[in-house]
Amino acid sequence: MQTDFLVIGSGIAGLTYALKVAQDCPDKTITILTKTQSDETNTKYAQGGIAGVMDADKDSFEKHIEDTLIAGDGLCNEHVVEIVVKEGVDRIKELIEWGAQFDKAPDGEFKLGKEGGHSEYRILHHKDFTGREMERALLEKIKTLPNIKLVSHCFVLDLITQHHLGYLVTKSTLDIECYGVYVLNLNTQKIEKILAKIILLASGGNGQVYRTTTNPAIATGDGVAMVYRAKGRIENMEFIQFHPTALYEPGVRGQSFLITEAVRGDGGILRNADGEAFMEKYDARKDLAPRDIVARAIDNEMKIGGTENVYLDCRHMPKEKFLEHFPTIYDKCLSIGIDVTKQMIPVAPAAHYSCGGIKTDEYARTSIKNLYAAGECASTGLHGANRLASNSLLEAMVFAHRAYLDAIERINGIKQIDENLIPGWNAEGTNKPKEKILITQSLKELKLLMSDYVGIVRNTERLHRANKRLDLLHEETEVLYEKTEVSPQLCELRNMITVAYLIVKSAEFRHESRGLHYTTDYLSKSDKVQNIVL
Ligand code: FAD
Ligand code: SIN
Repeated sequence: MQTDFLVIGSGIAGLTYALKVAQDCPDKTITILTKTQSDETNTKYAQGGIAGVMDADKDSFEKHIEDTLIAGDGLCNEHVVEIVVKEGVDRIKELIEWGAQFDKAPDGEFKLGKEGGHSEYRILHHKDFTGREMERALLEKIKTLPNIKLVSHCFVLDLITQHHLGYLVTKSTLDIECYGVYVLNLNTQKIEKILAKIILLASGGNGQVYRTTTNPAIATGDGVAMVYRAKGRIENMEFIQFHPTALYEPGVRGQSFLITEAVRGDGGILRNADGEAFMEKYDARKDLAPRDIVARAIDNEMKIGGTENVYLDCRHMPKEKFLEHFPTIYDKCLSIGIDVTKQMIPVAPAAHYSCGGIKTDEYARTSIKNLYAAGECASTGLHGANRLASNSLLEAMVFAHRAYLDAIERINGIKQIDENLIPGWNAEGTNKPKEKILITQSLKELKLLMSDYVGIVRNTERLHRANKRLDLLHEETEVLYEKTEVSPQLCELRNMITVAYLIVKSAEFRHESRGLHYTTDYLSKSDKVQNIVL
């Protein structure tokens, strides 16, 4: 199959880009691939909202920039921060034009929320299911554009580069080029090659690498792993953001339900097992300090108290107001026997967001020619060592737009590769798997080791241990991969091992504590401010 533009991912980044390209180039074909249902994305689960300076009287670009830089702990690219904050407002307006609705007060003004690290109320939201509303609006709009083909249940296996033409491609090869992808089409169970002139990776995050995460099952870091295999550049993978308040439900595996930070923005207070409001011991901004600080404080309180959770106290908040802003949270808690107006909510930190990823420039270009990346899989320089809450949906839209601007300028100058030059997928020597236990057990081991050794607080010995265990998992999985027919489960395991390796390696290289990377062996910040690129 051939297409002009290929988009991998149907979250906010992929859909925004596809829409813009399709509107601008009605004579071109755009294909979006997504590995499960179209709306099963991190985007759909976003709760708190999207940050933007919508009220220039009370807020300013300067303040939003400053908040982002403070959260990023010295590692943000200031120019990129300025781009995102300033251009973000127009992107939010476009989203509204496409039909997304944000909560408004009776006077017609947006109801703006506040989250950790923000000095002003600037977060637009749709109750506590902002992401679902955005995803709905974008998918509706996509349907109106005849030159977009959205194919669900299509698992992208690998990027096609010169390597597949028989050339030796290494990290030092200049001008690595992407011609398309190999895909396992789950609708037909066939492996296909899809060739394109321009490819956008919008494949999202990697929270599933950890045992406890707010991310859905699709968040397995496939895009990052594919780019790494194709010898592209990956940056700052050590900065994994743990959300301080995922609902603590013993026995629940996979995705943890999020209790949005907006609850603390509206007055929710964190308390330890003794009922003490502890955040003032850690930071003057208390419950609304940036996420790295709150998550570490909770981790410490849990260690001191020997508990597996702390509590979020909302009992003092007016019931009507809570129900209006947080209906999903209210219902979810009630469904497990917690009436938030009378009982505290048990919460614990969970892996939430990957600040690093595929290294991109100001137009979302990766180190591989004709390959762009936007959204959570990309490392643009916005977040530095710690992302400011509600900045990621904004970043995804801004860089999807910038990728679109660059791509439409270049598309007519790109010649599609002759498909006869690209070999079909090589499945020689592979057989149907006899048992799945080899995959599921390795996955369990991977998640455990990442949570136990590469979590909120790290040290050199734990990282070395993690590395050794990852080596073994890698070796065993590669042997399995060589002789087994590919499946999403096997490929995801392989991708997650790669992503885990990149997290651990980057963490080992960073000899300091900065932002989300906190190691007891290097407690202070180094004078040398640097990105770790692998
Ligand atoms: P996603 O929305 O995750 O989409 C990824 C897409 O890639 C999916 O369609 C998936 O199927 C596809 N894909 C992946 N691998 C493959 C493959 N191998 N083959 C084919 N397709 C593939 N951010 C905010 O700014 N504000 C918030 O309030 C907020 N709340 C959040 C709450 C939760 C619970 C979570 C998990 C995240 C939240 N975030 C929030 C972060 C934000 O939602 C994400 O960073 C953002 O939505 C990522 O969008 P994306 O387009 O990059 O990727
Ligand atoms: C939240 O609603 O607390 C999550 C916001 C974010 O991840 O930006």
